[in-house]
Amino acid sequence: MNMLFTVGVSILLTFSLSCVDGLTCLSCKGVADINDCLSSEATCQNSNEECYLDKTILPSLQAVFSAGCRSKQVCDLFAAASAGKRETSRTKRTTVACAECCTTSSNNSTGIPCNGYLCKQKPKTDITTCGVCDKVADPTLCSVIQDCPPNEVCTSELIFANNQLVHRLGCERKDVCDVTLKGYKDAHPGQYTGPKRKRVDGEIVICSSCCDTRTCNMADCKSLINIQPCYNKTLCG
Ligand SMILES: *[C@@H]1O[C@H](CO)[C@@H](O)[C@H](O)[C@H]1NC(C)=O
Ligand SMILES: *[C@@H]1O[C@H](CO)[C@@H](O)[C@H](O)[C@H]1NC(C)=O
Ligand SMILES: *[C@@H]1O[C@H](CO)[C@@H](O)[C@H](O)[C@H]1NC(C)=O
Repeated sequence: MNMLFTVGVSILLTFSLSCVDGLTCLSCKGVADINDCLSSEATCQNSNEECYLDKTILPSLQAVFSAGCRSKQVCDLFAAASAGKRETSRTKRTTVACAECCTTSSNNSTGIPCNGYLCKQKPKTDITTCGVCDKVADPTLCSVIQDCPPNEVCTSELIFANNQLVHRLGCERKDVCDVTLKGYKDAHPGQYTGPKRKRVDGEIVICSSCCDTRTCNMADCKSLINIQPCYNKTLCG
């Protein structure tokens, strides 16, 4: 009994600590363009890890990027090395042109992890990348991310299905978002009960929200709808 309790507490502690410390970084290996890194993320294992971005020049002189989590010690070694010397021009060799680390949270306006901006990179922000999960118990635990088609943004919905409340995360057209937002605004404050859409399969949509920063929909629908932007004033202004 006592031991079970201790194990339970330590699992809980480990979980909450890793949630606090878990830095989110872009993750990719040997891609030609920083934008090819945008569709995959890694969560660092502990507070000793940082986000990194390496820009490497191949013998063919092509530049490639690798990104992810890396220990602080290795980050510090690279930082010391680049501060000290400014040379390694031995042809027919892979050359590290830039190796940088960061520990700040994702950019507040774009939602892109800090390592997307290292080595003087400017990742594209015109395509919205969203969590895509059908029926998850907790929207923050959705681990699939995808780029949405142009003119679509992220959506997070709360659905009642099979006697359970579940979250559906994905992409949605901006005009559909606007119409739903209008319904929300028209309801008396505090009395909103969702779009009352019923699906063919009998599922009931209780809350439907949209947002447009990177992976912003990995959050609760009811908190998102209160800050949802209006895209077309004719529809929701
Ligand atoms: C955040 O993104 C904006 C828009 O792309 C950019 O101008 C800004 O420099 C970024 N900030 C940081 C801290 O990377
Ligand atoms: C984002 O905003 C939070 C709170 O306002 C701030 O602490 C954090 O430094 C900001 N992050 C960036 C990358 O600017
Ligand atoms: C806004 O919505 C109206 C009504 O659907 C549409 O006629 C108009 O073209 C839209 N405006 C823009 C800028 O998309």
